[in-house]
Amino acid sequence: MELEQTFMNFLLHHQERHNRTYHFLILMDAIISAAKHIEHSYITGALKGNLGQAGKVNVQGEDVMHMDDIAHEIIIHYLRTTGRVIRAVSEESKDIIPLDEEGGRYFIYFDPLDGSSNVAHGLPVGFLFGIAKRNLDGPEDFHLRPGKDYIAAGMFVIPTGTLTIAFREAGTWRFHIDETMNYVKPVRITLPDTPDTWELSFNATNRYTYRKEVQEWVRQNERRYTFRYLGALAGDFHRILTRGGMFMYPAIVNHPDPKKLRPEGKLRLMYEASVVAFMCREAGGHAVDEHGTPILDIEPKDHHQRTALYVGSKPLVEDIANLLKGG
Ligand code: F6P
Ligand code: MN
Repeated sequence: MELEQTFMNFLLHHQERHNRTYHFLILMDAIISAAKHIEHSYITGALKGNLGQAGKVNVQGEDVMHMDDIAHEIIIHYLRTTGRVIRAVSEESKDIIPLDEEGGRYFIYFDPLDGSSNVAHGLPVGFLFGIAKRNLDGPEDFHLRPGKDYIAAGMFVIPTGTLTIAFREAGTWRFHIDETMNYVKPVRITLPDTPDTWELSFNATNRYTYRKEVQEWVRQNERRYTFRYLGALAGDFHRILTRGGMFMYPAIVNHPDPKKLRPEGKLRLMYEASVVAFMCREAGGHAVDEHGTPILDIEPKDHHQRTALYVGSKPLVEDIANLLKGG
């Protein structure tokens, strides 16, 4: 029997080594508890009628709650128990959620169940989160922080049972869930340097809706790399982190249906793009928006702000960033 180091043990040592407080441990313990509950609800979701659309009634005549709402409620419950979170931003809540404005230490930004088109099939989705810290002695605190201010960011791929988490200046680490529902076996992730394994990931249906330069880039580069697209950022980015290459969701500027135009991009800055950009940076990669600006430098103006995203291996992202800057 092979037994492994648990995530909590890894984190305790990490905090001790860096002379950190226990507050972050309390927060991470809550996040882990939430993820385990979501994982369980998701695996058993189809059986209980929870993978359908909200607004439906199940065979017992009860209102079916959409899995996104279930995941959101679970996370908020556990965050509340910590007493350490000032405010939370969730994809599932239009408004910011005030939790502990006085005693809290952290701001958290999360997407409880990202990759909604996979939900009805029980296929991979993600719980993505980024954490910033209260400015204890500086100016007034505010939750609209750029990704470079995050102290940690991570994602659970559900129901795959993985946690990937990056700590500021301390790398990106992957854990797997074991038979006792503990996340175990820390493995440090660095993007591979050589292009042999690189992959490209984007919604190919959209390729003719991108601006001309991006379409041209795709034409020139697509045959060099394997193409993979799952349709859930956490799952697609999970592959990029180990295989290298690039995930992109460019701005949609040439759609014949004006309702489908997304000149700002589709993904959300604070709990999608910045989260993967942070993990990517700690793994040696890079991420930019439609102007070639590093994602982690973008100062959000709204907590649900959208952005285009190009994330992955540095040479590839830098190559497209040069072209984007020129446009
Ligand atoms: O919420 C964003 C999201 O579900 C991501 O997880 C995913 O990468 C993207 O949307 C997929 O969008 P599309 O269906 O347009 O390819
Ligand atoms: Mn999402």
